[in-house]
Amino acid sequence: MKIKTLIAAGGLGKRLQGFRGNESTKVLLEVKKTPMINLQIQKLIEWGLDDFVIITNPQYDQLIKDVTSSIQGISIDYVIQNEPKGISHAFLQAENKVSEDEAIVCVLGDNFFGENLLNNVNFENFVQNQKSLIFTKEVNNPEEFGVASIGQDQKVIEIIEKPKNPASNLAVVGVYIFDYSMFNKIKTLKPSKRGELEITDLINIYIDKSCCEHIQLNSWWVDAGTPERIIELENNLI
Ligand code: DAU
Repeated sequence: MKIKTLIAAGGLGKRLQGFRGNESTKVLLEVKKTPMINLQIQKLIEWGLDDFVIITNPQYDQLIKDVTSSIQGISIDYVIQNEPKGISHAFLQAENKVSEDEAIVCVLGDNFFGENLLNNVNFENFVQNQKSLIFTKEVNNPEEFGVASIGQDQKVIEIIEKPKNPASNLAVVGVYIFDYSMFNKIKTLKPSKRGELEITDLINIYIDKSCCEHIQLNSWWVDAGTPERIIELENNLI
């Protein structure tokens, strides 16, 4: 089964500006002396992935190309998201780089994990049945993430982006498996209150068609979007 991996690296990471002298975008920040984007790709190679599309923003496109070009033995393509109009919008920019028979692994460039999430994933199942797979993790601060409601039958009922009153403590982490129909589904999305095409709204379309499965993670997960979480990530990587 062919698998394409899309990495969303288009945001500016404003909460990390100035941290360790960082004046550029989050994914170029050095984590354990390696630019975050290269660390991410190295991890994904360890998971068995080798065909990547990186979604960048216009300002840092060339720098990201320069930094990642040192990684050997894999295919990396690049597309630009002209404005940060949301994570679903970012992934839509890669539509022309994916073929219809491929499984699609979508990754947020700042999310890191203590285990290979793709072990035992049956990719054919997701492509043939136009299904999606999401991963959840129990957290103490669910209001900072997309939050999943899971029914008694273990089915996903709904995902809500950064809810004030979370229905559970299960955060939806930043790795998602979709089929090619994701692109047409994204085209039907409307901007959220914060003006973005939300990844959670894409997942809710799959849920409404009873086409979303989930796996709960046990190992560590870091969304490395703040200075504190970069340090937490480095401690986990020891
Ligand atoms: O970390 C998991 C969480 O990531 C999920 O639980 C949320 O549902 C999801 O919306 C997301 O929330 P964040 O607030 O952490 O997203 P952030 O704006 O930090 O963007 C995550 C990555 O996506 C980041 O590396 C930059 C990239 N991005 C983001 C936007 C808004 C883009 O490439 N383009 C964009 O327009």
